[in-house]
Amino acid sequence: MESDHQKFYVTTPIYYPNAKPHVGSLYSTVLADVAARWHQLHGDRVFFLTGTDEHGQKIAQAAKAAGKSPQDFVNDISKNFKEAWKAFNINYSHFIRTTDKHHTEAVQHWLTQLIGQGDIYKSFYSGWYCVSCEAFVSEKEVSEKAPACPTCGRTTEWVSEESYFFKLSAYQDKLLEFYKNNPDFVTPPERLHEVIAFVESGLKDLSISRTTISWGIPFPGDEHHVTYVWADALNNYITGVGYGDKQRQKEFNFWWPCDLHVMGKDIIRFHAIYWPAFLMATGLELPRKLLVHGWIKVGEQKMSKSLGNVVDPLELHKEFGADPIRFYLIRHMAINQDTPMSIEDIKTRINSDLAHDLGNLLNRLLALAHKYSTSSLPAPHTWGPEERALQEELIAMVTEFKLEMGDYYFHRAYARVWKFIHTINAYFHAQEPWKVAGRDREKFVTILSATAHTLYACAALIWPVMPQSMTELCTALGVSLEGIHLEKLITEPWKKTFTLTVREPLFKQYELTTEEPRVENSYISFEDFTKVDLRVGTIEEVSDIPGSEKLYKLMVNFGELGMRQICSGVKQHLTVEDLRGKQAVFVANLAPRKIMGIESQGMLLVAENDKNKLEIVTVAGPVVNGARIR
Ligand code: MSP
Repeated sequence: MESDHQKFYVTTPIYYPNAKPHVGSLYSTVLADVAARWHQLHGDRVFFLTGTDEHGQKIAQAAKAAGKSPQDFVNDISKNFKEAWKAFNINYSHFIRTTDKHHTEAVQHWLTQLIGQGDIYKSFYSGWYCVSCEAFVSEKEVSEKAPACPTCGRTTEWVSEESYFFKLSAYQDKLLEFYKNNPDFVTPPERLHEVIAFVESGLKDLSISRTTISWGIPFPGDEHHVTYVWADALNNYITGVGYGDKQRQKEFNFWWPCDLHVMGKDIIRFHAIYWPAFLMATGLELPRKLLVHGWIKVGEQKMSKSLGNVVDPLELHKEFGADPIRFYLIRHMAINQDTPMSIEDIKTRINSDLAHDLGNLLNRLLALAHKYSTSSLPAPHTWGPEERALQEELIAMVTEFKLEMGDYYFHRAYARVWKFIHTINAYFHAQEPWKVAGRDREKFVTILSATAHTLYACAALIWPVMPQSMTELCTALGVSLEGIHLEKLITEPWKKTFTLTVREPLFKQYELTTEEPRVENSYISFEDFTKVDLRVGTIEEVSDIPGSEKLYKLMVNFGELGMRQICSGVKQHLTVEDLRGKQAVFVANLAPRKIMGIESQGMLLVAENDKNKLEIVTVAGPVVNGARIR
């Protein structure tokens, strides 16, 4: 990421066009778009591939239900994806469809190579199959009656047919070796542990053809078989940049290996096990990194078509526009977690971060400059200590921002930018330019110029997420993001002249309704709340619990309730010094229970910060030990 002008090849999963896109698919796509634009900002050559996964049983069934031929059906639905991505300014380089002639031929070419070298053999498959995930359910999960799919929970069906197999088992050790040598292969890294455990438990050869369905790529040399949809689909990542076409060999060599495959956690197994094994067999380099995100949930449930709780991206677009939704997905969703979304949350986030923190700052700058007839803001010859401090803050922020972006922890990176936007607001407020205007014109211009410089820098960093709004913000400042050099913009002395133009607020403010429950059916009554006895106590002693890496034993003074012993799993987050002597909030009437042989007489309340570290819940000022929270 550091040096300019490298190549960056990023992909999204290719989506099943069995139904229109939903916010889950938009999320994968926006993540890839932000990664692509971030590299573009560095001057890298970027290739961004997305598309649709058009073969297989699931599509054939959906087409049948719609009374259409599979090809007509996917022709129609893949258009919806293109339309949605256009609305959200997704700047892909190529939209691949697995029914494209080139892809089909290249997959056949690939299969022929693997058959020729003995990596594929013919045998017989019987087992359970999940049509929704297009996945074989492993033997460990097999039972007499149709088991539920371990990934999506739907009922599986029995498949028993002749099949070609890929010798996946032969790659078990090589895969384990690869994971060992590439611990950063997956972001977030903990997801790789699940993969390693799965591979260590033993890989079976993989069935890669079907005879009982016909909607798929014809298997080379055997007209009774079609290619298993995942063996077809994964190859889009190479066929999309020219694999299998002699004329495009140079292009393929330039882009491959892929730098980043983005996907949801449900399909990591295909990407972290089957795909690398396929590539090893093909003699191609493995992708550099998988970015694996969690679920978007509605209340407590995953958003999914079958649950009927799907949010249509185009509806969101109509109500909020592209940039605020892109921003919401990046800033609100934590890459490493499942995160609920709601319309109320979207409005709150837009109001606070966009309309208030960022939008108002721009408005105040423009309005004040206008009021004092200052449309041109030349940089002063010398900056005051406050402005120098502000620039240092900016440089520090960008250093942290780049580290987070480099690891694709976008939500943390942008949390850091917003922390800095609070700093700019605080600076602006403290300098009181509206008071300075009348008495010290030079100082007035200095304050406005420093604010404009920081806003410009922020606009560049935010541009990958909100390209349209940040371009408009720059227009209001009379500058452009075209051809900017990020490094220079941040570290060079501030010497830009801004030419301001008053404009409408960049972001809308939304009325919040109190009607929509954030989590359906999960209200509790006030009586229920009062059953929980929350108390403040002072942590007097903190000690280790032998044999536990996670737990501390705390001795807590609850005043009139006396001293209590409480076990708390914060050892990996907080030091003894972080806790000792602090007042914190505890659940005091939780039934006592033994943890690692030690009785715990309550529970310490904690919350996670934006670095995934736990912080204790405390009170803003000292209170009497044992004080009740109400
Ligand atoms: N066709 C396969 C991918 C083949 S890639 C070679 C597929 N398609 S999908 O349309 O079902 O899902 C595509 C992506 O959308 C996956 O990354 C999946 O995780 C994501 N999402 C679907 N529902 C989701 C949520 N509710 N939340 C977040 N993303 C989810 O799988």
